[in-house]
Amino acid sequence: MSNPLQEAFNRATYPVIGHGKRNIGVLKDALDAYDGELDSDMYGAGRLIEDFQSKMAGILGKEAAVFFPSGTMAQQIALRIWCDCKGEKKAAYHPLCHLEIHEQRGLHELHGIEPVLLGGKNRLIGLADVQSLDESVSCLLLELPQREIGGQLPDYGELEAISAYCRERGIALHLDGARLFEVLPYYRKSAAEICELFDSVYVSFYKGIGGIAGAILAGDAEFTEQSKVWKRRHGGDLISLYPYILSADFYFEERFPNMERYYDGARELAGFFNKCHQITTLPEVPVSNMFHVHVSLPKERLEPLLVEIYEETNVGITHVLRENGESSCFFEVSIGDRYALIPREELQRAFALLNEKLTFSL
Ligand SMILES: Cc1ncc(COP(=O)(O)O)c(C=O)c1O
Repeated sequence: MSNPLQEAFNRATYPVIGHGKRNIGVLKDALDAYDGELDSDMYGAGRLIEDFQSKMAGILGKEAAVFFPSGTMAQQIALRIWCDCKGEKKAAYHPLCHLEIHEQRGLHELHGIEPVLLGGKNRLIGLADVQSLDESVSCLLLELPQREIGGQLPDYGELEAISAYCRERGIALHLDGARLFEVLPYYRKSAAEICELFDSVYVSFYKGIGGIAGAILAGDAEFTEQSKVWKRRHGGDLISLYPYILSADFYFEERFPNMERYYDGARELAGFFNKCHQITTLPEVPVSNMFHVHVSLPKERLEPLLVEIYEETNVGITHVLRENGESSCFFEVSIGDRYALIPREELQRAFALLNEKLTFSL
C-alpha cells in the first residue's frame, strides 16, 4: 500500500530526525574499524564480549554487566530475578512502558509475573504513587525518559526520594534506561550517579547511540550471574554477538560525546514547532533529545500539508503521524546527527511554510 508521507520523507534531502538511514552501511562502517583477526565471542564468553561488559559496568557504576541481544529479553529477565528473590510475582511499572504495550504480555506469559500499573497514562510515576501502592510488589521499573509521553523526566529530587523509599521498603528498583545516555545533559549527572539510585539497569545501543541492536543489563555480581543463566534459557546466548557488540561500542564512542548537542538541538527545534499555529510540543521544553509534537488537525488533513512542505523545501519532518482522537494527531521527534546537517535557511523556510499552511487551514 502506498504511503505518501513516508515516501516524501524518504525523498527529502534533509530529514530532521535520527542519525541516518538504517541500512547495512551502519554495520559495515563499524566493522571496518576493527581488525579482522579479532576472535569472535562464543556463547557469551571471550575477550570481545567480556571487555565490553566490563567497560559498560564501569560507565554505569555497577559491579557487573551482561550483553543481551535485546532490551525486551534483558528487562523481563531482570524483573524475573527480582520477583524470585523477593518471593512475590508482582512488578510495578508505568501503564505505557515498553513491557506493557510492546511485548505481548511476555512478562506474564513467560514468567507468570503480574504487572501492577502505577500512576496515570498521561503523567510520570511520582513518589506519591509508589507510597500509595496497596499491594506488595517485588520491584518497580522506572523508564527515563518516559518515551510514550514525549520523553518526560521526573525532577532528580523526586527520583532520589523514590529510590530511598524503595530501599526502605525492600522494593527492587530497575531502570529502563533505553535512552539513559540521552538524559545526562539535562540532569547534569553521570550515568553512574543516576544508576546508583537503581538496583539494576538496562541501556540500549540502537536508540540515541545508533547501533544495530543490543542491550546491556547491569547490577551486582549475583544479579548479573543469574541473568546469564536466564539469557541461556531464553536462547539469548547466540554463538556470536559480535556484530552487535562491536557496533554498540563503535557508535557509543562516536555518539556518547554528542548527547549535549542532540539535547540542544531538541530544545531549539521544539521552539520552532511551538511558534507554529496549532502546534504544541510535549514536553514544551525537551529534557532529552526527544519530544512529541501535537498538532490540532486530523491526521488525514496534516499528511498532505507535510508532503507539500517536504517537496517544496527538501526538509523531512516526520515519516509517520499517530492519531490522537478525531481532531488531532502527533508524532515523535528524536534528534541525532542529521539535525546539524540541515542548512539554517532551509530549516527556517520549512517552518515558515508549516506555520503558513497551518494558519490557513484554520
Ligand atoms: C523504553 C524502551 N524500553 C525497552 C525497549 C526494548 O528494547 P529492544 O528493542 O532492544 O527489545 C525499547 C525499544 O524501543 C524502549 O523504547
